[in-house]
This record gives sequence, C-alpha cells and structure tokens, in this order.
Amino acid sequence: MGIMLKKVHLLQSPEEERTDVYINGNRISAIGREPRGFSADETIDCSGKTAMPGFINCHTHAYMSLMRNYADDVPFATWLFDRILPIEDSLSLEEAYWGNLLSIAEMIRSGTTTFVDMQMFPRMAVKACADTGMRALITRGLVGSDRNDEGAKTRIAQAFDEMDYGKDIGAPVSFGLGPHAIYTCGEDLLRYVAELAHDKNLPVHLHLAETQKEFDDCMNEHGMSPAAYVDSLGLLDGEILLAHCVYLDDNDFSILARPHVHVVTNPASNMKLANGFAPVTRMLREGIHVALGTDSAASNNALNMFTEMRLLSMSQKGVTRDALALTAEETLRIATENGAAAIGREDLGSIEVGRTADLILIDEDCPSLRPLYNRKASLVYSASGSEVSDVMIDGKWVMRERHLKTIDEERVIYETEKIAAKYR
Ligand code: NI
Repeated sequence: MGIMLKKVHLLQSPEEERTDVYINGNRISAIGREPRGFSADETIDCSGKTAMPGFINCHTHAYMSLMRNYADDVPFATWLFDRILPIEDSLSLEEAYWGNLLSIAEMIRSGTTTFVDMQMFPRMAVKACADTGMRALITRGLVGSDRNDEGAKTRIAQAFDEMDYGKDIGAPVSFGLGPHAIYTCGEDLLRYVAELAHDKNLPVHLHLAETQKEFDDCMNEHGMSPAAYVDSLGLLDGEILLAHCVYLDDNDFSILARPHVHVVTNPASNMKLANGFAPVTRMLREGIHVALGTDSAASNNALNMFTEMRLLSMSQKGVTRDALALTAEETLRIATENGAAAIGREDLGSIEVGRTADLILIDEDCPSLRPLYNRKASLVYSASGSEVSDVMIDGKWVMRERHLKTIDEERVIYETEKIAAKYR
C-alpha cells in the first residue's frame, strides 16, 4: 500500500518549503524524490497542509474519561479518595471499554497517535487499541503492601495474561508495570516491581512527587525525598516513566538525570488539582529527560496535547519569569520526540525516511493559525487541536478529513452517556 502526500509542508523545513512524502506500508519510505518501484494507491493533495509527527501522550488513564467533569473544584484528597476511586471500583469491564474508546476518539481528533496508560482495566484498553488502531504502552495499575498482597499478586498475574492477549489479537500495544504511587504501594511491593521489571525487561510507570503532602510524608517516614526513596528501592535502575515530579529537592535533579529515567510532566492536572508547577525548566537544564502527558480526563479535564503544550510553555515562562523558557520548538520536541524516547520507540516521534508512519496533517486554512509567520509558534501558542484534519497510525488512516475511520463516535457517546446516567 503506497500513499503519497503531495506538496506537504514538514515542520522541520523552512516556512515556505513544500515537499512530497512517500509512505510504503507502515514506513516513511522517501521524502522529496519518488523511490524506485513506488506505486501510489492514494495520492493526497496536501498543498494546504502541514505534516508533523503524531503526539505521544506519556501519561493518562484512558478509562477515566467516564469521570470527566464529575469531581471538579475539590481538593486532591477529596477528588481521589471520595469521588474518583468509588466510581472506578464500581465500573464493569464493558463500561471501561467505552471509557477507553471515548478517550481514544478524543486523542485521535486532537492529533495523538500513542498514549501511555496506567490502567485498572488493561484488557479493555488492549481491546480498544486493537479495535481502533491506536498505539499504546499499557501499564497495569498496582496497589498493595508487599509482594504477597493478594490484590497485587492477582493484578500482576493479570498483567502478564493481558500481554499474551494483546499478542494474540495483534493489538498495537506494548506493556509495562504501573505501581500507582509510593503512598498506595508498600516498600516491598515497589522493590518487587523493580525486580520483575528487570527480569522481564518491562518499563515501569509511576506517579511520583505529585503533592507537597506526598513529599512531606516521605521525608517523615523514610527520611528522604520521594525521588531518593524510589532510587533506594532500585526503581530508577531500569526504564521508568515518572509522572508529575512537582516536588523535587536540590539533590533530586542529579538522581533523575539518567538516560533511562523519563519525567512526564502534566501541567494541566497539576494546576487543576492545586499541586503547583513542576520545575521543568530546571529539569531540562540539569539533563533530565522530560516528556508530556495530559493525565486523565478526570483531572485535566481533556486529553488534548495542543492545549497541554500551550500550558506547559506558558506556565514555565510565568513561573520562571523568563520569556525564553520552553520555546515553541522545545515544547513540540517534548510532545513528540521525547515521548518516543520515553517509550523506547525511536522509530516514532519524527517524520524522517525509515521511520514508522505515525503522523498528522494540520489544516493551514484555519483562522487560528493565520498568518503563518511561524508554524511552530502557531501550533504551540494558538492551536486548539481542531486544526488536525487527518491522522495516520502505522501507515493507516484513523482519521481522514476530520472523519474517524475506526470509531463509531455516535455509538461511543450513546454508551458513555448511558453509563454516566448511573452516577448523576
Ligand atoms: Ni495519573
């Protein structure tokens, strides 16, 4: 299957330049000149389009879009323990499936082609990705005291079952372990996760240093910061994605500056739950790898990487009082290339020959982007996500001319409203 994107603008090119992109199967086979033996099954006039790599949303909980706008303007502890967790505990597998689909529909529409999930319903996330063609790294959410905790044991066993299920149905997903946080997982369970991840070569995905309370409690209980604590348990010896990292002390920056440690910043969720601003500018200066995530639609309350980029850049400029903090170019890189690195997929995150064809087309004729002095600035500071017209994952269109190809949106909305009716 050959697809030619004719006269498209690539974000890495000078503003006035247009070129042709050739996609063969799931690969970008050439840029500029037609490769030998290429036959186009589909040629798309892209003279009004900009192409860029799809976003990699490195931290979310996809089923939680069912709780969007259900618990707002309440403190973090009330939000999590009194409002969100009781609903989560009552959801059925089928309900979680529709929640996952709702999230995937929203993510595709706003240009995300891969998400990293901490899931309590991994089978449904796997199925939703298989059904829609969405790419994901799915990490099984874990809580419990130690390695003999029955709940944790069941969930870990389930995590491995879901990996087999994913392979069986050919879902475009990979897997990891998702211990929820240092305040919901005991020391022994966290050590065990580090051992398992090492033995099975799996990435770990953990919420860390999200609140002042978490930082203070960790200092009181363990005599060290959350970052130093998880380091002492061996969790930072392998591939790990650390969501949030809002509260770091001076020493933590050098602890986190390692090639396989990736901080995932979630500016909207941190602001909305009144947890503050992660020191992203300093992290970057000190050599920490930073990727971007939305967190769930229950705390954001959207899964939109355009608005997330805007908030990231704006909040860092505001907090550091430095207009040069998080430039549009840096912010775009964090939302794409850095995300690809965070999930160990160097074939994603940029449009180059030989890479996997996960890309999006932006409609340049949207008033919100004009005039086109500087596309990168337009995308970070002005776009809302509605400018995305087409989305390709693994060489296949999942949205064409704003029409979702793999999701029946009407049905998804009907099913999710039916579920929501129970909680009204
Ligand atoms: Ni989260």
